Amino acid sequence: MIKGTDIIWLESILKATPDALQYIADNKSVAQNLRDAFPHPYTLDDAVTFLDNVRQGKMGIVYGMFLNTGELVGVISLTPGRDVNRFSAEVGFFVGEQYWNRGYATEALRLVGNFAQFRHGLKRLYATVFDYNHASMRVLEKAGFKKEGIMKSSAVKDDKILDEHLYGLVLGNSNIEIIGRCKF
Ligand SMILES: CC(C)(COP(=O)(O)OP(=O)(O)OC[C@H]1O[C@@H](n2cnc3c(N)ncnc32)[C@H](O)[C@@H]1OP(=O)(O)O)[C@@H](O)C(=O)NCCC(=O)NCCS
Repeated sequence: MIKGTDIIWLESILKATPDALQYIADNKSVAQNLRDAFPHPYTLDDAVTFLDNVRQGKMGIVYGMFLNTGELVGVISLTPGRDVNRFSAEVGFFVGEQYWNRGYATEALRLVGNFAQFRHGLKRLYATVFDYNHASMRVLEKAGFKKEGIMKSSAVKDDKILDEHLYGLVLGNSNIEIIGRCKF
């Protein structure tokens, strides 16, 4: 359930300004849970480059999580696999720390799962989570993902080797189409 009074919409991240993106992305607590490709500090140039890459189709399918006011609160992406993995997509997401614990990430995952199923015909979503990221694990579980295993010593972050937890969601269990809040 959404805890706050606002609901979120997913729309192309290209609707967001670089300033709005930098405002939520320039944060160590966000960056330490993401791949090193996500810069810290996150400059305005980084935001401009990211949006250009999205525009050129280099970043998969990338949505902004928007409030009704148009305020950007987070980002969620789908990166479809290739070849035999073409019905599967990795999901990546973050919410600006200013907006944590209001249910936005959970709702975004539910919306994107629905969209992935009905719009893209995908069969599976997955995410890998650093072993210390309990908030992300909780969010994935609330959105229906199951822990499929632990990838031992699979990542290095801040010079420390760590495990990643693999979460998967097999799509097709929902017959409720709610893509109205997911525009692309
Ligand atoms: C993980 C993240 C996306 C969650 O976003 P959010 O909008 O705050 O998530 P929600 O509000 O939907 O749910 C948060 C849940 O995590 C729980 N939580 C928060 N901090 C926690 C912690 N340290 N340990 C355990 N659970 C925690 C909350 O209590 C809530 O669960 P509840 O509804 O059962 O109380 C956000 O913290 C974030 O962007 N983190 C940095 C980037 C990141 O980790 N991305 C995911 C990479 S796999």
